[in-house]
Amino acid sequence: MSNLTIAIDGPSGAGKSTSAQALARRLNLAHLDTGAMYRALAAALLKDGLDPSNEQVVLDNLAHYELTVEFAGPDQHTLVNGRDLSPDLYSSEVSRGASDVSRYSPVRAYLVNKQRELAESQSFILDGRDIGTVVLPQANIKFFLTASPETRARRRWTELQAKGEALSLEEVLADIEARDYQDSHRADSPLMCAEDAHVIDSSQLSFDQVLDRMLDLMKAQGLEVTA
Ligand code: DC
Repeated sequence: MSNLTIAIDGPSGAGKSTSAQALARRLNLAHLDTGAMYRALAAALLKDGLDPSNEQVVLDNLAHYELTVEFAGPDQHTLVNGRDLSPDLYSSEVSRGASDVSRYSPVRAYLVNKQRELAESQSFILDGRDIGTVVLPQANIKFFLTASPETRARRRWTELQAKGEALSLEEVLADIEARDYQDSHRADSPLMCAEDAHVIDSSQLSFDQVLDRMLDLMKAQGLEVTA
């Protein structure tokens, strides 16, 4: 077998990135946060004064944005036209913009192509919405990580508080529900659970417990988890 690929999909705030990072550290594998790629494109458009929810504007400008991903140890740097936008990706505005741009098929085709190229180059853990269904349907193991909207909103609200964004918990919950709806109802590659994915509901689990469950499922499937 060539490279090992591990797919982690699920809605926003389910803890995909945190679990993927922890799994990557434990197994000494690279981790690609594909959401950061949609976010970086949205952040670049916003910086240029362009509206990520305007399909025509996004498609007219897509060719002007060259997105690259670099890794420094466990840290992913997502660059657009050579500029590292990683520190600017987690505001509410960029979150909404990322969900907006992710609806457009040419944007998805551009980013999915890059994700597949990376996954061909070495073993990877990828997290996103469509990894197990579209990007790498042949992944060695697939996890679908979820949690109740209330749990996800509380986690996100805590993160935003730490960054000084003064949104109420109700506003964050409304935002999460709106993004869930948009991500699950878009025509191209909507968020959904692959038939052969292992579903893990993290509402009542600590991140260590999520990690242990993933490692147990990998072992049960005969995948090497001793790194
Ligand atoms: O995982 P995240 O919250 O950082 O993702 C940001 C947005 O990008 C999310 O609203 C949906 C979109 N996305 C996607 O459509 N496909 C992916 N593989 C990853 C993210």
